[in-house]
Amino acid sequence: MAEMTTDIETGTAARAEDLHREYGRGTATVRALRGVSVAFEPGTLTAVMGPSGSGKTTLLHCLAGMDRPTRGSVWWGGTEVSRLPERRLAELRRSRVGFVFQAFNLMPAMTVAQNVELPGRLAGRRPDRGRVTDALARVGLTGRERHRPGQLSGGQQQRVAIARALVSRPQVIFADEPTGALDRTTSHEILALLRAGVEQDGRTCVMVTHDPVATGYADRVLLLADGRVVDELDRPTAAQVGERLSRLGASA
Ligand SMILES: Nc1ncnc2c1ncn2[C@@H]1O[C@H](COP(=O)(O)OP(=O)(O)OP(=O)(O)O)[C@@H](O)[C@H]1O
Ligand SMILES: [Mg+2]
Repeated sequence: MAEMTTDIETGTAARAEDLHREYGRGTATVRALRGVSVAFEPGTLTAVMGPSGSGKTTLLHCLAGMDRPTRGSVWWGGTEVSRLPERRLAELRRSRVGFVFQAFNLMPAMTVAQNVELPGRLAGRRPDRGRVTDALARVGLTGRERHRPGQLSGGQQQRVAIARALVSRPQVIFADEPTGALDRTTSHEILALLRAGVEQDGRTCVMVTHDPVATGYADRVLLLADGRVVDELDRPTAAQVGERLSRLGASA
């Protein structure tokens, strides 16, 4: 069971209030987020969709404490993370959130087990073999501990990345197009894994995706356009999502 720290007042695992993120200055300014307010309930999976450049990755990075909003606030449970000093933020991030990338971001020279242990090592903790074994078992990679990422398929590499995100037993997992580099069958396996964490452990998952089929695993779909949330759909069908996306001019 993941350690649950929810905001007592709002009951949310994570939330953002009036987030703005601008890049650059003057006439070159890009307004990637323009006033996003959103809350994530514990034990839910939210898919974030929208056209390329609509601000999905920027939103995820701000929510995960990997980027600082220009204005507005981010909360994990009752803690306002957007105000924390860098060191404290890094510490809290390692224990409270996990991040999964489209390109897996594994260390090629390290074994599977070493990759999974890495966040703990960076946090100055001694590797906990039990936790590593447990995380790898959850993603179906028991017995692959000593292999290197290059000896695994794309889907297996993404499983290692999910095990790495799970090993600290975070409350929230953020995933940016986790199935973007995978075929359809493997994508379903990865989505089912993320869903299982939500069902079995009450974890919260926020996932950016371009695939309307991925929304079958989501409780809710947020649609972004031009740095704003323009729609929110509860348990929509893939057809409904596809239709809304095509109206937003997405290529999905
Ligand atoms: N570091 C940066 N410096 C300048 N502009 C940036 C930076 N990061 C993002 N942007 C701009 O902010 C806007 C939103 O980018 P973001 O990566 O969040 O979009 P996205 O919705 O994730 O797109 P995609 O679906 O293509 O991944 C884009 O116009 C992008 O060019
Ligand atoms: Mg992106």
